[in-house]
Amino acid sequence: MQLPSARSFLPHSLFGRALLILLVPMVLLQLVVGLVFFQRHYLRVTEQMTRGVAMELRAAIQAIEAAPDVDTARRNLAILARPLRLALRLEPDAPVSPGVQRPFDDLTGRALARTLAEELPGPLAIDLASNPRAVRIGAPTGKGTLLAVAPRNRMSVSNPHQLLVLMVVASLVLGAVAVLFLRNQVRPIRQLAEASEAFGKGRSVPFRPTGAEEVRRAGNAFLSMRSRIERQIEQRTQMLSGVSHDLRTPLTRMKLTLELLDADEDEVEGLRGDIAQMERMLGEFLAFARGDQLEESAPTDPFVLAGHVVEDAERGGAEVSLVTVNETPLDPHVQMRPVAVRRAIENLIGNAARHGTRVSLSVRLLPKTLDFVVEDDGPGIAPEDRARALAPFSRLDASRNQDAGAGVGLGLAIALDVARGHGGSLELGRSTEMGGLRAVLRLPR
Ligand SMILES: Nc1ncnc2c1ncn2[C@@H]1O[C@H](COP(=O)(O)OP(=O)(O)OP(=O)(O)O)[C@@H](O)[C@H]1O
Ligand SMILES: [Mg+2]
Repeated sequence: MQLPSARSFLPHSLFGRALLILLVPMVLLQLVVGLVFFQRHYLRVTEQMTRGVAMELRAAIQAIEAAPDVDTARRNLAILARPLRLALRLEPDAPVSPGVQRPFDDLTGRALARTLAEELPGPLAIDLASNPRAVRIGAPTGKGTLLAVAPRNRMSVSNPHQLLVLMVVASLVLGAVAVLFLRNQVRPIRQLAEASEAFGKGRSVPFRPTGAEEVRRAGNAFLSMRSRIERQIEQRTQMLSGVSHDLRTPLTRMKLTLELLDADEDEVEGLRGDIAQMERMLGEFLAFARGDQLEESAPTDPFVLAGHVVEDAERGGAEVSLVTVNETPLDPHVQMRPVAVRRAIENLIGNAARHGTRVSLSVRLLPKTLDFVVEDDGPGIAPEDRARALAPFSRLDASRNQDAGAGVGLGLAIALDVARGHGGSLELGRSTEMGGLRAVLRLPR
């Protein structure tokens, strides 16, 4: 049997751990100090005080023993009782029923009774229970039982519970202060974690570094990193769209010139095809460069989105079977850029329809991830070619694809880009059910 490690008992959050580090030594210290103080101080003092009263009782017993008869003994007792502030009575007939009666929450009672028993002769009857402010003692003498009532505060420290109460209250106050301080210290770290998590998923949330110096430094480093990455993406986008746009103009001119040439020539026909393909490429480029940048991410229902994609594909003549799996009882909305994600899935389905005859799209919503799985019954992609297939402008087998319509080689690259832009991944594998390619577009939620 494997024992659970200590790690599984520890709190997972920084707040919980810091609180634990702070509170455990504090509580331990209080316990040790409290115990030692109780032992050393309260019990010792109680013993000393009790010993003093015991001495006076011994004097009373001696006065009884020294007296010739009971009446003299009683008179002697009366003389003693006043200055000693004790109630003393001699009962010749009352027998002593030895024993200690002590309430269970009487913390010093045990030490008190033990000291009395040490100091006084004979079996004693000690009653601490019937009156919390007084101690009743029955001691045997030669002339009967001496019944003494002593104020409790002459024999033990009063209110030993106060120490406990004080300790608990102090712990609570210190704990509350620690919670308040720690919450303030942990908040900037949590905010930094949230901001970087969101950025990893392609969202830029407002963030201002606060808190301790190290945390602020990390926050500032994150901010400058974020703006650098954003600048780079912006530059890439501008370059892509600039190049695409600038290439369009000469292309259009070439197309116009071709229109004027003799259309029957084979070369002209070939040139037209090439120009059409270049235009398609540029169009895809432009759409990709623009769409990804301008679109805001929004909570989107992936099942509705998948439904639209399948509808569109079927209108385009493809046969797509849709499977949806929702394994969370929660709201199915997932934060994403819906147009970009839709383009990625459409690319995957387009590939599948081009290379296979049957296509299936399954949407699996799990607590932490959202998977779009596209499978087909085509030839698939060999494991060693998969990385290459994902690269931009790569067509694996141009001759094989030719009759099925030539692609630009951007489809998978765009899908991968969309996945990464959301902090997700695109994985290619072999479909066990259908035999062709299995592409998994995974987005975190
Ligand atoms: N479902 C699939 N089955 C078999 N091979 C595939 C499949 N999907 C893609 N491939 C291979 O991977 C290559 C790259 O695919 P990608 O989608 O990036 O480009 P494309 O389909 O050729 O062009 P585009 O999608 O830009 O029109 C394809 O040329 C093809 O050889
Ligand atoms: Mg494609």
